Amino acid sequence: MTPRTPVTTPAGATGTADTDDADSTDGTSSGTGTVAGATTFAGLTLDRHVHASDRAVNLARDVLGGLTANPRELPPKWFYDATGGMLFDEITRLPEYYPTRRERAILDDHASDIAAACPADTLVELGSGTSEKTRLLLDALRATGGLRKFVAFDVDESTLTQAGRSLIAVYPDLAVHAVVGDFERHLSHLPSGGRRLIAFLGGTIGNMRPAKRGAFLRALREQCGSTDALLLGTDLVKDPDRLVAAYDDGAGVTAAFNRNVLTVINRELGADFNIRGFAHVVHWNAADAWIEMRLRAVRDQQVTIDSLALAVDFQRGDDLLTEISAKFTRDRITTELADTGWAVAQQWTDPEGDFAVTLATPSTTPTAASV
Ligand code: SAH
Ligand code: TRP
Repeated sequence: MTPRTPVTTPAGATGTADTDDADSTDGTSSGTGTVAGATTFAGLTLDRHVHASDRAVNLARDVLGGLTANPRELPPKWFYDATGGMLFDEITRLPEYYPTRRERAILDDHASDIAAACPADTLVELGSGTSEKTRLLLDALRATGGLRKFVAFDVDESTLTQAGRSLIAVYPDLAVHAVVGDFERHLSHLPSGGRRLIAFLGGTIGNMRPAKRGAFLRALREQCGSTDALLLGTDLVKDPDRLVAAYDDGAGVTAAFNRNVLTVINRELGADFNIRGFAHVVHWNAADAWIEMRLRAVRDQQVTIDSLALAVDFQRGDDLLTEISAKFTRDRITTELADTGWAVAQQWTDPEGDFAVTLATPSTTPTAASV
């Protein structure tokens, strides 16, 4: 077991760093409702399951694997450093990027229905980002009288701690617990106890390929008790022109966000990507029903990555796949949930039918695949 070392955030909140091993038996998921060793500062409890050295190792592994694969591909979580978080926040306000507005409209209309169906004492948010829309859920759950705690879980510590501090200012009675972690690896570290509503918003589940989403939903199901529930936000299939525009805005913010992954690799792995040497390309893959975001070499070039002692040649026109964003039908959501041990309790869309929010509960009879 790796020794725990105190960590300090820029906010002065303190917490603990632990191993990055999801299977570690360090007591962090002991079922007490708190994480062993976590400390609280000014109302904000912070736990880290990813710390700097893990980050470097994981990034190195993903970049080595991704750049030597054919086709070349990088996992999307590396977009999100402090700059990436800010750029994403800007994306959510772009005229072309409808998903955030549509999901907010659904929560505006139905947060009280959600709270009535699942009067949780703990709201957990995965991939929480700024947790802006989440306030609608917090308000509705508070109105039912039982809300005590909010757990925000995100891989980007800077956005997470900033969001946590804002929430404490607005909800002084709420215990706010920020968890820096990777939802593909650290779900077993989620604080347990009480009745939990687990929100996974923004269509982030669509950034995983089907096999990964299946594994994720099954792993989450295994962490949940019979009174817990999942609130899942998913973008829906629609006119491809609108879909492409949402990821290729006129102001170029999404292009900057896409290229930010190269800046992260340059800084953290000593690489020399020429950011302007890569164009932002968006493609609707109809067969797989997902948007693909790529970075395309605009000229022949060689990139060296010092930490990996690796040189990679790009010919003009070579692509690096940086993101998929799957689009769903309502039936598909229900089927994928059923296959992974979840029963749909209710499902809402916005009046235009652009986006869906689904409330699901653990199936009483899990399918064979989920046990
Ligand atoms: N839920 C917010 C933010 C969506 S953007 C909204 O609806 O607007 C996706 C968020 O998920 C980012 O904050 C990013 O840092 C986080 N994220 C991406 N991959 C992650 C991973 N593997 N583990 C934890 N968080 C992740
Ligand atoms: N979950 C968001 C989505 O798929 C993430 C996102 C929005 C995104 N715009 C992006 C990711 C642009 C990469 C690039 O819509």
